[in-house]
Amino acid sequence: MTVAVGIDRLGFYTPSLYLEMTDLAEARGDDPAKYHIGIGQDKQAVIPPTQDVVTMAANAAEQILTAENRQAIKMVLFGTESGVDNSKATAVYLAHLLQLPADTRAIEIKQACYGATAGLQLAADYVRSHPTAQVLVIGSDIARYGLRSAGEVTQGGGAVAMLVTADPQILVLDAESSYHTEDVMDFWRPLGRTEALVDGKYSTNVYLDFFKTVWRTYQQQTDRAIADFAALAFHIPFTKMGLKALRQVLPEATPEQQETLQAAFEASQRDNRQVGNLYTGSLYLSLLSLLRHGDLVAGDRIGCFSYGSGAEGEFYSGVLQPNYRQGFDDAALTALLANRRAVSVAEYEALYTQRLDLQGADRQLAVGTDSAAYYLAGRQHQQRQYRHR
Ligand code: CAA
Repeated sequence: MTVAVGIDRLGFYTPSLYLEMTDLAEARGDDPAKYHIGIGQDKQAVIPPTQDVVTMAANAAEQILTAENRQAIKMVLFGTESGVDNSKATAVYLAHLLQLPADTRAIEIKQACYGATAGLQLAADYVRSHPTAQVLVIGSDIARYGLRSAGEVTQGGGAVAMLVTADPQILVLDAESSYHTEDVMDFWRPLGRTEALVDGKYSTNVYLDFFKTVWRTYQQQTDRAIADFAALAFHIPFTKMGLKALRQVLPEATPEQQETLQAAFEASQRDNRQVGNLYTGSLYLSLLSLLRHGDLVAGDRIGCFSYGSGAEGEFYSGVLQPNYRQGFDDAALTALLANRRAVSVAEYEALYTQRLDLQGADRQLAVGTDSAAYYLAGRQHQQRQYRHR
C-alpha cells in the first residue's frame, strides 16, 4: 500500500527588525516605485548579530514541535547556504538546542536556495519507507549582497521549519517531480566571503529557463496540465521574480483560470513582500503565505517551483488536506510580522557590520534588545555560544 507522505506542519521565524523599502530607495537615490513595483518588495528583514541561521531555525521549529513529535523525529535536514561552520552541520546545533533524541540523523544540505527542497524530497522518500518516523526539514538563511549593490534591495532573512510525516495535515506530496541541473555561474559565494557574488540579470534569465524546463518535463511525466492546479508557488528572491515565472505559463490557462492563478499568486507573495529573500526558505514562506491568505479548499493541487543558483531547479506538486489550517499558527505569524520594529537606514548599515566576523576573534554580543527564545550570545574559544531563554 502506498503511504501518503508530506508536510504536516509549517513554522516560520524572522527577526524583530525590518527596513522600509521606501527609506532604502531614498537613501540610495532611487525611485521608491522601483523597489515596490519594479522589484516588488515593501519591507526587508534586518538580521541582528544575535540571530543566525541556527537560532532562526530553532525559533521557527519551536512553533511546530510537541513533546510527542520530538520523540518521533528521526532526521533533521537543514537546508542553508549561509551556514556557520565549514565542517560541523547546523543541524547538529539545532538538534541539541531543540533537545531532540540522540538517535537522530542531523545533516546540513547545501545547493544555494534549493537545499530545503532537497531536504523535503529526501525526507518524503525516507518517511515512505519508514512511515512512523518524522523528519524535521529546515530552510534558514540570511540573504546578504552588499551595501549599495544592485542586490541590496533583494536582501532579507528568516527560517521555515517543516515537519514531514505520513498522513500529513497540510499537503500530501505527489510522488512525481522533475528536476534539472546545470553548472551555471549566476550566483555564488566563494569561501571567505560573507556577501554573494551575482550576475543579477543573468540569474533571473536562468531561473526562468529552469522553470520552463522542469514545468515541461513535469507535464510529460504526469500528463497533468495547468488546468490541474489551483495555485503555483515559486521560489521568491523578490516578488517580481515569481510574477515573471507565473506569466510564462499563464497563456496555457483559460481566462477564468488565469484569474484564479493570479489571485493565488497575490496571496503567495504577501508575506514575502514583508520579509525579502530568505534563500532556501523563500519557496516555503511563499507556500505558507498562500495557505494563510489564499482562497483554497481541500483537494486543491498546488505546484511548487524551487530554484537554487548554480544551478538546480525542481517542480513538484502536492494535494491540500482537509485540516491544513491546523498545521500552522496563523495568528502567531500575523503577530510576528506586525510586531517588528522599523530601523533607519543608518541603523541597518550599522547592524550590517556588527555580526561575528570570519576572523574568529572571541566576542560577547549585546543581547539586551533581542527577545527571541533562541539567540546567539557571542563566541568563546572559537565556539558559538547559543542560548535559550
Ligand atoms: N518604477 C517602477 N518600476 C521600475 C522603476 C520605477 N521607477 N525603475 C525600474 N523599474 C523596474 C524595471 O523596469 C525592472 O522591471 P522588469 O524586470 O519587469 O523589467 C525592475 O524595476 C528592476 O529594475 P532593474 O532591472 O533596472 O534593476 P537592477 O539592475 O537594479 O537589478 C536585480 C535587479 C537584477 C534583481 C538585482 O536586484 C539583483 O541582482 N538581485 C539579486 C539576484 C537575484 O535575486 N536573482 C534572482 C534569480 S537567482 C535566485 O533566485 C537565487 C536567489 O535567491 C538569489
